[in-house]
Amino acid sequence: MTEATAVQTTVGEQIKQSPAVAAAIDTIVHETTTKCAQITDIREANPELKSSYDELLARCAAVKGRGLLYPYLASGAGNGALVELADGSVKWDMITGIGVHFLGHSNPGVIRAQAVAALDDTTKHGNLLSNFDAYGFGEKLLEHAAKGSKLKSAFITTSGAMANESAIKVCYQKRNGAPRVIAFKDCFMGRSVTMCQLGDSAGGRQGVPLSTQVDYMPFWTEAGVAAAGGEEKFIAQCVAQLDEFVARYPDQHACFIFELVQGEGGFRTAPREFFVALMERCKKHGIPVWDDEIQSFGRTTEMFAYDMLNLGEYVDVFCVGKMTQACATLWTEEMNPKAGLLSGTFTGNSSDFTVGNLLIDTLASGGFYGADGKFAKHFELFSQQVQALASRHPEWFPGVEGQSGVVGGVGGMMRFTPFGGDKDKIIKACKAMYDEGLICFWCGHGPFHVRFLPPLPVFDEADWPRVFEVVEKALAKVG
Ligand SMILES: Cc1ncc(COP(=O)(O)O)c(C=O)c1O
Repeated sequence: MTEATAVQTTVGEQIKQSPAVAAAIDTIVHETTTKCAQITDIREANPELKSSYDELLARCAAVKGRGLLYPYLASGAGNGALVELADGSVKWDMITGIGVHFLGHSNPGVIRAQAVAALDDTTKHGNLLSNFDAYGFGEKLLEHAAKGSKLKSAFITTSGAMANESAIKVCYQKRNGAPRVIAFKDCFMGRSVTMCQLGDSAGGRQGVPLSTQVDYMPFWTEAGVAAAGGEEKFIAQCVAQLDEFVARYPDQHACFIFELVQGEGGFRTAPREFFVALMERCKKHGIPVWDDEIQSFGRTTEMFAYDMLNLGEYVDVFCVGKMTQACATLWTEEMNPKAGLLSGTFTGNSSDFTVGNLLIDTLASGGFYGADGKFAKHFELFSQQVQALASRHPEWFPGVEGQSGVVGGVGGMMRFTPFGGDKDKIIKACKAMYDEGLICFWCGHGPFHVRFLPPLPVFDEADWPRVFEVVEKALAKVG
């Protein structure tokens, strides 16, 4: 017997099981975490690093053809919600790459998962040839998705836009090439040629020839409900609008795309009855329901926003991305596309799957969801901070036309609206917060809002007052 046949496992498995490799990974995690533990508060840049940092920023601008929106270049280290920049400054990260780093900075589990991924023979996996990891990730996602929906299969890909492109193709094929799509006003779907046309933002498709036919539906707003004369009347109006589109273009709609909690559109959701009325109508007309949870997944009061709203039975196609690292399109058995429709060179990096699995396991580990879960509690604490700020400085919160209150969102999708939602002032406020040591962003199409997507699983409830100290300092500059 040769030596090779005597060993009852693969070489790949031997590497993963090697005590020497495990010890090396333990050392990496320990060293990184120990060093990162020095990062405990925000701090200003180190003046000695200023010129080298400015030079890096200039090189970035040269590559991009324009300056960076925020002069942000991370050093590669952080601690939870605190991130260190390459100029030595430390800031609160309340936006996490638009929600990508939900497990925070230098999370020991993430570093371990990345180190394990580094053992693989290649960095990228593909649709043609792959290790099991992409399918393991898909299997885990489907296992949780199936608890509240009929979603059965998944296509794994590298970006939210690509997941959405795959979703729309599945719908087109199911509907024999029906060319139209129904979408909500103010939705956002990504930046590919098709997705920038579905997204309701003129700035996102300047100069792009229009090849996709979209019928926009009103989304739920307080102003819309008031104008209609109440919730039931608003829902009836929207259903009538949907019927009108279908009557005008019979059998011409491939799908209705639902963003159950609008992200870029301003962290807005709607009552279940609104979605049920429209989804029931879709079922009646044979129009597939496509649910884009690329921004909302994981952060509402359930892992899936359709579970929060108890809408899983209606969902035919579903997309996820951002915090999951690997992105995916999921669909029901009835929507299963023909071979050849979906593929692509890459499914993702090994670390997309090891970190993606860690993320899903963390979310499922308990305590985060439900009306009394940690994410709902964080939202309550955030709201209290905004209310307290507004009562200390009512002049910064003059009220917003068509919107009651200055706080909004759900779970880890948090927004507040100073300065009446004025675009220029909101952008100024975000930039002032950046300068003071807090990174956030804006959302909405008017009113505009300050948007937070904090790394909730690693964020300490006691840190909300520290974060709002920075907010207050910054708003004072703008106010
Ligand atoms: C709801 C929604 N869909 C799709 C996308 C596109 O994802 P990506 O930027 O990964 O292509 C985004 C990104 O912001 C999003 O918020």
